[in-house]
Amino acid sequence: MVDRCLLRPTVSTDLPALVALERSSFSDPWTAEQLGEAIADEAAIALVLEEQGEVVGSVLARVVADEAEILTIAVSPTHRRRGLGRRMLDAAVADSAARGAQTVWLEVRHSNRAAREMYLGAGFVAAGVRRGYYRRPPEDAIVLCHRIVPAASDGAPLQ
Ligand SMILES: CC(C)(COP(=O)(O)OP(=O)(O)OC[C@H]1O[C@@H](n2cnc3c(N)ncnc32)[C@H](O)[C@@H]1OP(=O)(O)O)[C@@H](O)C(=O)NCCC(=O)NCCS
Repeated sequence: MVDRCLLRPTVSTDLPALVALERSSFSDPWTAEQLGEAIADEAAIALVLEEQGEVVGSVLARVVADEAEILTIAVSPTHRRRGLGRRMLDAAVADSAARGAQTVWLEVRHSNRAAREMYLGAGFVAAGVRRGYYRRPPEDAIVLCHRIVPAASDGAPLQ
């Protein structure tokens, strides 16, 4: 299928669409206030995917020093399995690298197979578990990380 979606920076007028997207995607969605604050943060990377004038996907990340964190990412339920989530994730990782991040971190619900598969496919690896991290419903988080810039010790030949 030809992808007609436009990937662009999030603007404040996207907020109602982002709230709706969060509500349709998460059991414990971010509020308008939380989303507004995150987007306004100068450390934020905030992108939306728009199709025919409608916001169908969103990713929010944050870069501090040489580390980035994916805060939230969602694709409208009617637009999933078209590669849009992966497209936004790759763009957020690339933007993080451009801003100096060497590692990207995120948390994902243990039961969230779709997201976990997407992250693994994009090069993220498991780095730990945060017990009881989520509420509504309570669940452990799997911590994933993606090293954009290999550490000096990674794959170094043994002398
Ligand atoms: C996770 C999410 C963003 C994926 O978006 P998407 O646009 O459907 O994903 P893509 O089409 O880009 O798929 C990328 C890869 O993810 C994996 N994937 C996506 N949906 C999947 C599913 N339902 N089951 C298994 N694997 C899945 C696949 O590996 C897929 O690659 P493939 O199509 O080559 O098999 C979307 O399911 C979503 O919005 N979920 C609700 C919000 C959420 O859970 N966000 C993540 C919070 S940590």
